[in-house]
Amino acid sequence: MKPTTLANLSQLKKEKRKFATITAYDASFAHLFAEQGINVILIGDSLGMTVQGHDSTLPVTVEDISYHTRSVRTGAPLAFLVADMPFMSYATPEQSFENAAALMRAGANMVKIEGGDWLCDTVKMLTERAVPVCGHLGLTPQSVNVLGGYKVQGRSDDAAQKLLNDAIALEKAGMQLLVLECIPVELAKRVTDALEIPVIGIGAGNMTDGQILVMHDALGITAKPPKFAKDFLKETGNIRDAIRLYIEQVESGAYPDQAHSFN
Ligand code: KIV
Repeated sequence: MKPTTLANLSQLKKEKRKFATITAYDASFAHLFAEQGINVILIGDSLGMTVQGHDSTLPVTVEDISYHTRSVRTGAPLAFLVADMPFMSYATPEQSFENAAALMRAGANMVKIEGGDWLCDTVKMLTERAVPVCGHLGLTPQSVNVLGGYKVQGRSDDAAQKLLNDAIALEKAGMQLLVLECIPVELAKRVTDALEIPVIGIGAGNMTDGQILVMHDALGITAKPPKFAKDFLKETGNIRDAIRLYIEQVESGAYPDQAHSFN
C-alpha cells in the first residue's frame, strides 16, 4: 500500500471516477475509515461543534487542529490528510506561514482555508513554500456571523458568478483542491467543469468530483443534521458497513440524490 497523493486525486478526476472523503478527529475512527477505503481525511474545524460542543467553529485553535491531526495521522498513516486552518489563523499571509507549518508538522499533507479571491496571495505564497492549499467556497462556516447563519450560498446570478470567478482565481494562484459547501447543484457542476483540480462537494449535489461528510452526520450522531446529510448507519447497523455504503453511493453517484441536494 502506498500513501495517497494529490496526483492520485487528479487522476480520478481525469478518469471521471468519483471519490468519498470524510472528517475524522481521532486515531480509532481514522483507522476504521482508512480500512474501509477512505483515502482522504479532513481534520475539520467542525470539531469545534462535533467534539468540543460549541455552536460554531470560531473557538477552534491551531493547537486544537494540530492535536487532532497528530491523532488522525497515527490511525491512518497512508491517508491524504487535509487540516483546517481555524478562524483568524490565516488573516495575513505571514500568520498563515507559521500556522500552516504547525499543521504540516503535525502530519497534514495540505491545509484548507475558507474564502474567495482575497486569499490568492496567501495561496500563492503558501504553495511556493511547499504547503499545498485546499480552498473552501460557498457556505464558509467561519463567516457565519457575516453570512447571518448557515444558509445555502450562490443562489443569485451575481453570487454564482462571483463564486465561479473566485474558484478560477484561486486555482490560478495555486490552489490544488476545492471544497464547495451548500450551493445549488448546477453551480457546483459549473465550477467542477471549469477547474482542472479536483472539487469536493458537501451539500453541493452529485456532480462534483468527490464528496465529503462530517463523520457525525454520516453516522447519525448529529442532533439536527443538515438537509444534505445522510445517516448511513441507520441503513446498515454497523459503522464499517455504513462507511462502505457511503463510499459505494458516492462512487456510483447515488449519494447525494435530489432529496439531499439544493436546486
Ligand atoms: O470543518 C469541516 O468539517 C469542514 C467540512 C464541512 C468540509 O470544513
